[in-house]
Amino acid sequence: MENKIERLQKYALEEIKNAKDKDTLDTIWRKYLGRKDGTLTKILRGIKDLDKDQRPKVGSAANTVRAKIEAHIDMRGKSLRQGQRADKGELLDVTLPGKHIEFGHLHPSTQMRERVAQIFISLGFEILEGNEIVSDYYNFEALNIPQGHPARDMWDTFYIKTRINADQIADQRGYISVNPRSNQRKSALLLRTHTSAMQVKVMEEREPPIRVCVIGKCFRHEATDASHEHTLYQIEGFVVDKHISIANLIYTLKSFLRSLFQTEVKTRLRPSYFPFTEPSFEVDIECLNCNKSGCSACSHSGWMEILGCGMIHPHVFKAAGYPKGAYTGFAFGAGLDRLVMLRHKIDDVRWLHSGDLRFIKQF
Ligand code: DAH
Repeated sequence: MENKIERLQKYALEEIKNAKDKDTLDTIWRKYLGRKDGTLTKILRGIKDLDKDQRPKVGSAANTVRAKIEAHIDMRGKSLRQGQRADKGELLDVTLPGKHIEFGHLHPSTQMRERVAQIFISLGFEILEGNEIVSDYYNFEALNIPQGHPARDMWDTFYIKTRINADQIADQRGYISVNPRSNQRKSALLLRTHTSAMQVKVMEEREPPIRVCVIGKCFRHEATDASHEHTLYQIEGFVVDKHISIANLIYTLKSFLRSLFQTEVKTRLRPSYFPFTEPSFEVDIECLNCNKSGCSACSHSGWMEILGCGMIHPHVFKAAGYPKGAYTGFAFGAGLDRLVMLRHKIDDVRWLHSGDLRFIKQF
């Protein structure tokens, strides 16, 4: 059988080589590959009747020949068409340079996202993206920001008209569910304002030790300007286990910043306030732009604010359903866009989502 296929290939290629026009090529195609009576088609169809050990060999040989015949018919067709053009005086100059095909590349924010993810993977974190539409519960209440809390103003967002009932789960993965421990009967759905909204959801789904880094899109109801956008990317990291301390937090952040900037960067920890951490801090790095001598990028202070962080508040653990005092943990949040701006010295965040090719092509 294999000899038969080999012979068939020889005849077919010979006929293709000698074909003088498209009609002949079509006839050859039908003769060998035609659906009904093609010689090769018949062989392929008959494979099922062969001995079991013969089938794979014959099948593979027949398929290879089929591909070869198709490729040769294609090539011959092309060369006939070129020949026709050459007959009409349209000579093909093979020395002409080819058409320039422009390659795209990843957006600078995507490049930074991948870089950050790589660093956290190397530190033993799991990377998640999470949902962009979440319930009010996960975005605020579970993070110790109840209705009417003044911190809500800082994180105002876009709300979705549909409300869901406490017992209703709006998506299969449950990211929009309202937690039964919540005292809200109904929860508004909203575009998450921070990736912190994944904290309690993740804690509910798994037992510590947890080391998770959520990188994804967030939204704010902002009057946009050079440093504020309605759509932004955030990095949220959190670690939960027994005996996690501020020292672990500082070590993790320093390792991250060293890998990111590929140099030892001086950091400073300032006390701050976030409802979901206690104590809370803000981390500044020495201005990379002016080496601490003062410039407009650092408001002439020599320091740049880079992220917020702290030890996870007991109320957050309570919302997650963890027994009181069983675990400790730290969390931090940073703006990915800000890191991109620092890296490439971009002075207006609005460029990032502008879709302007003059901007994008520079990276
Ligand atoms: N979610 C905060 C924001 O959007 C950032 C943040 C601050 C996250 C402190 C944290 C944290 O986990 O501990 O501004």
